[in-house]
Amino acid sequence: MLGQDLVAVLQAKHEVLALDHAACDVSDEAAVRRIFCEWRPKLVVNCAAYADVDGCERDPERAFAVNARGAGHVARAAEQLGARVFYISTDYVFNGGKREPYQEDDPTGPISIYGQSKLEGEQQTFGSDGAGARHLVIRTSWLYGIHRPNFVEKVLADAQSQPQLNPKLEAVADQISCPTWTLHLSQKITELAETSACGIVHVVNTGQCSRQEMAQAIVEWLPRPVPVGPTYWAKLNRPARRPAYSVLGCRRLEQLGLEPLPHWREALEEYLELRTIRQ
Ligand SMILES: NC(=O)c1ccc[n+]([C@@H]2O[C@H](COP(=O)([O-])OP(=O)(O)OC[C@H]3O[C@@H](n4cnc5c(N)ncnc54)[C@H](OP(=O)(O)O)[C@@H]3O)[C@@H](O)[C@H]2O)c1
Repeated sequence: MLGQDLVAVLQAKHEVLALDHAACDVSDEAAVRRIFCEWRPKLVVNCAAYADVDGCERDPERAFAVNARGAGHVARAAEQLGARVFYISTDYVFNGGKREPYQEDDPTGPISIYGQSKLEGEQQTFGSDGAGARHLVIRTSWLYGIHRPNFVEKVLADAQSQPQLNPKLEAVADQISCPTWTLHLSQKITELAETSACGIVHVVNTGQCSRQEMAQAIVEWLPRPVPVGPTYWAKLNRPARRPAYSVLGCRRLEQLGLEPLPHWREALEEYLELRTIRQ
């Protein structure tokens, strides 16, 4: 989902080689080295992930092989060529106990296998001996974009399949974060590529909301809006825990002199307009 938007945005300014899972399995160290030696990249953006949060809980071996050790393979192979790496990470590295935005230097404490494997991916990217000091970890949250089914598309489909009489949807009211459009994230990643930023940076659309508030904003776009009532995470019986609050503060972006991303409502409206035009 992110990778395809990113390739499109980066291609406007740079020569880009886009590799999907079949072309480059990050869990295969030798294959990663071979491909990098052939193409000699200057910058590698590692969007590869086992990103199914509940799937990771059921298959931790795969989660760590791709999200953690795979990140190490990418970083070490890039370093051999003097290339920088951007590793895309997540708000799920935090435990959700705070009630104000998490900044880049806040202590982590993942509560799911996905979060643990992504945190280890951040550490593997930097390496244990300072080898990855030039690399950048970009944490983001609640992505949606046109290249994969996502929360926005699910809410639209559910709303459209409601009965005429008493239509009603439910969405989780006790999880709060920042919905982020992959196109806006891709534009900011492209700007970051033109800086020498290293370490950790948070990149999300501004503002914050619950899934219920986000769903309400999505259905308001429809000719016949459907009311969205609250449900609560514990009632859904899903395998993986999610942080109750994982809003990311973008202090570092400001320090780098880069503009914040637009507000999530503005981003969502733009996305909904774009997908309508494309249909
Ligand atoms: N989605 C979100 O809400 C969210 C939030 C915060 C951070 N992130 C992070 O943002 C990044 C992009 O996420 P996304 O939502 O765009 O996920 P996505 O659509 O699932 O993309 C991940 C890609 O990685 C590929 N992949 C899986 N295993 C691989 C392997 N062993 N080697 C190489 N490629 C492999 C997948 O290919 P196959 O599908 O063919 O296996 C898929 O194309 C990820 O790092 C994710 O952790 C996502």
